[in-house]
Amino acid sequence: MVQDILLETERLILRRLTIADAESVYAIRLEIAKSSDLPTLDDTRNRWLPFILSYYQEGHGFGYWAAIEKVTNEFIGWFYFRSAPNKATDTAIGYFLKRSAWGKGYATEGVRALIVKGFTELRVKRVVATALTRNIASIRVMEKVGLRFEKLFTDDATGREALRYCLLREDFDA
Ligand SMILES: CC(C)(COP(=O)(O)OP(=O)(O)OC[C@H]1O[C@@H](n2cnc3c(N)ncnc32)[C@H](O)[C@@H]1OP(=O)(O)O)[C@@H](O)C(=O)NCCC(=O)NCCS
Repeated sequence: MVQDILLETERLILRRLTIADAESVYAIRLEIAKSSDLPTLDDTRNRWLPFILSYYQEGHGFGYWAAIEKVTNEFIGWFYFRSAPNKATDTAIGYFLKRSAWGKGYATEGVRALIVKGFTELRVKRVVATALTRNIASIRVMEKVGLRFEKLFTDDATGREALRYCLLREDFDA
């Protein structure tokens, strides 16, 4: 059965992404991209979004969530919560918001809701998150939601120093 992944927090609706979100997603991808690796609308619509939508077909409740700001009904970014690439027993969490929505606690609010869903409904064993050492806001979000520092490593994609944080089910239950 395909699960409905809709989630609601105090200030956000977290819903499935759709192809109709292509322009909103593209605008945010462009805003947070590195200048050497700019996305295109075509890539967003024909490669990036179809990949994200394929998660919903699998029906296991993981994948990507669009973040809608309730007060404006605006698309402000997205979260993912999915198997970690290198370790199937881990569930990786990530968050990407448009600049005008930063600093309002939205990333923390969405991540908290996904972690609760993961441990209470989805039988997740361990949540992990990674961020470049220089990405202070992202690291602060990990700390605020109760993840704990695990290790320092070199990010394969960028060659830069990165941090991994994690939270075990036992520590969440406690
Ligand atoms: C990371 C990101 C999602 C944060 O979103 P956000 O909604 O602004 O996060 P929150 O408001 O929940 O929390 C951010 C925290 O970082 C702190 N922070 C932000 N910039 C900071 C800085 N330069 N120095 C110190 N603290 C900083 C904020 O003060 C806040 O902590 P506080 O509540 O204790 O004051 C957003 O910056 C983003 O989308 N960045 C680009 C994409 C990205 O890097 N994603 C992470 C990869 S997983």
